[in-house]
Amino acid sequence: MPVVAQGAQLAVITTRQPEVRLIGKSPAIQALEQEIDSASKSDAKVLITGETGVGKEVVSRLIHHRSARAAAGLVTLNCAGLPDSLLESELFGHVRGSFTGAYRDKPGLLEMAPNGTVFLDEVGEMSTRMQVVLLRFLESGEIQRVGADRSHTRVNVRLITATNRDLQAQIASGAFREDLYFRLNVIRFAIPPLRERAEDVPLLVNFYTESFSQTHKVPATEISSEAMDALMAYQWPGNVRELKNVVERVVLRAGGRLVKASDLPPEVLNVRRTAPAGDRSDPTDPMAAVNGRADDLAALMIKQGESFWSAVYPTFMSRDLTRNELRKIVQIGLETTNGNYRLLVQLFNMAPEDYKRFLSFLRKHDCHLPFQRFRAVPVRLQVPPRAVPRVG
Ligand SMILES: Nc1ncnc2c1ncn2[C@@H]1O[C@H](COP(=O)(O)OP(=O)(O)OP(=O)(O)O)[C@@H](O)[C@H]1O
Ligand SMILES: [Mg+2]
Repeated sequence: MPVVAQGAQLAVITTRQPEVRLIGKSPAIQALEQEIDSASKSDAKVLITGETGVGKEVVSRLIHHRSARAAAGLVTLNCAGLPDSLLESELFGHVRGSFTGAYRDKPGLLEMAPNGTVFLDEVGEMSTRMQVVLLRFLESGEIQRVGADRSHTRVNVRLITATNRDLQAQIASGAFREDLYFRLNVIRFAIPPLRERAEDVPLLVNFYTESFSQTHKVPATEISSEAMDALMAYQWPGNVRELKNVVERVVLRAGGRLVKASDLPPEVLNVRRTAPAGDRSDPTDPMAAVNGRADDLAALMIKQGESFWSAVYPTFMSRDLTRNELRKIVQIGLETTNGNYRLLVQLFNMAPEDYKRFLSFLRKHDCHLPFQRFRAVPVRLQVPPRAVPRVG
């Protein structure tokens, strides 16, 4: 589990061995297992590519944990959405006074895992300026803190990067430096999407069915063969992450009974029906899946007594729950409590002293909804009914 969290949860440093497994028996997964074994024997840089949710982070963790660096730390940093200045100071550190708020010298992440591994996720999102900074580091191994005029130290870390972008296309368009690409692309993992290895679907479904039944303390559920066929036929644009989410919903809804194909979400069944406006299960409505998932997780807390910290928080932090889904859950809570966050804390089975922590968590992730609009508006004015003009 993460033992050090830096800054606003930008990076996670793991020093103990978290349990990770690559589930699947397809030739692609078997080949991946062998490639992981061989990559973990060297120190060469690794570039992992593949669609969103295919398991790039899982692979990076397995490489680290099977390598001689396992006893040292694994630093994971997601480059997406971070402004250059923040990304640079997170990676390389900064010296006191280098920008407003830099009250003291601070080491960067690259120094925090000596002899360990640094995993830079979504490296394709880096600005061209940051690409130059990273390239300079890769060439010299020297760390120059932001605001310093010379290098501070040298570090020994192994670099693993990942992206779901087509880097060749980005190179062609000038968005990614070719020289950096050659540096990063020493050992290459290209993880195929789930739809190209449908034989892995039953294993994943069974694994997550069991694991979610245990996590949410609901009776074990069995998946019928017609439902499994539908799950295997589905295209899974969000890959294993999407499958995990679908299985979680199904387990919560089934409550231990056999899952039929008709119990699956409409997008999996590829149901195209014209639904009345506002119908939550309309498969053409992008908010339908968000609402369904939020409803399920809210019900888990409100009806089954699970705490927000176990039902929602870990899933959100591992990026398996989107901001929109979290906002929707908060909305359900505020609707139920008439806009009262203190009651919401109770409703979601948290201790009253968690109030501040909960609110600052929501604010940090931009999911704090203004409570005012959930307060029932007292009726002050009695508006007389408008006179209806007589016709004829
Ligand atoms: N083969 C697998 N076996 C078990 N779990 C998997 C497998 N592949 C992916 N997962 C799970 O699916 C989820 C998404 O995986 P991961 O975060 O590694 O994807 P990713 O490729 O890094 O996605 P993104 O591009 O969106 O960052 C995680 O919860 C992970 O544990
Ligand atoms: Mg990832």
